[in-house]
Amino acid sequence: MLLTNEFTIREVRLEDAARLAEIYSFYVLNTAVSFEYYAPTVEELEERIRHTIEKYPYFVCEADNKIVGYAYAGAYSAREAYAWTATASIYLDKDYRRHGIGTALYDALEKRLREMGIVNILAGVAYCEKEDEYLSRDSYKFHLKMGYSPVARMKSVGKKFDRWYDLLWMQKKTNGARLKDKNPFRGLLLIPLMAVVTIVVFAITLLIDAYLIPWDTESLGHPAPAFTILAFIGMPFVNIGVCGFAIILTIIRLIRAKMKKRSVWRMTS
Ligand SMILES: CC(C)(COP(=O)(O)OP(=O)(O)OC[C@H]1O[C@@H](n2cnc3c(N)ncnc32)[C@H](O)[C@@H]1OP(=O)(O)O)[C@@H](O)C(=O)NCCC(=O)NCCS
Repeated sequence: MLLTNEFTIREVRLEDAARLAEIYSFYVLNTAVSFEYYAPTVEELEERIRHTIEKYPYFVCEADNKIVGYAYAGAYSAREAYAWTATASIYLDKDYRRHGIGTALYDALEKRLREMGIVNILAGVAYCEKEDEYLSRDSYKFHLKMGYSPVARMKSVGKKFDRWYDLLWMQKKTNGARLKDKNPFRGLLLIPLMAVVTIVVFAITLLIDAYLIPWDTESLGHPAPAFTILAFIGMPFVNIGVCGFAIILTIIRLIRAKMKKRSVWRMTS
């Protein structure tokens, strides 16, 4: 419980390790939020901090005269091409959740990562279809709220407390661009496009017939306005074909989007 309603964010110090170990050990020992089995010692955590701050930002939040949470970034992979992609992790004292501290810590972390030139942030979130006593959807909901999108779900990759848990990778672009699905209606643009094409085709055929093959009105249109007639017969078929394709494509995309939404809904519920 946040007593003073005030908190500050600052960079981590090595001497914070003991308090961070205390906060983290709760999640290691009692939840599946972390896939570690054994809580790291203070020395181990100090070593992890030292290693992280060599290259990445690491922030703690202080409130009520103690550290109540921390967030840090890390490398997604040591391979050079991943240099613009970082991971983010965050842990709050269990009694200090839902006070905006997570948001403030992530804001600070993301700002620093952006300044470093990091383009993608990935959060690996432990996930299960049904919440249980070891794992809630809090982290998933928090990351959604912070603008992260689920991009990959690895099924049953972590076994803890004799249960299998998934790992959900959630991604955010540091430039604010949302990882949005494309508009399923975009195929319908073919319909106005076809209308324009049809008008142009008719205009061209009329011009050709009028100027290149002059109509002989006396002999009932002989030689025939051949191109115009061809266009009048052909274009409806072309239109029906293209527009039909656009409509069927849109229906397929809508069904696929609905199925995808349903699976996200299953994640959220
Ligand atoms: C996930 C965690 C960091 C969120 O931090 P927090 O300070 O509680 O989050 P905030 O108060 O800043 O909440 C921001 C938004 O996240 C969402 N959110 C956070 N906790 C939520 C919860 N328990 N249920 C639903 N939504 C939640 C809400 O949309 C919230 O906005 P709102 O308060 O306006 O509704 C914190 O709960 C925590 O440390 N959890 C345990 C460790 C953990 O899961 N770490 C992530 C490992 S990847």
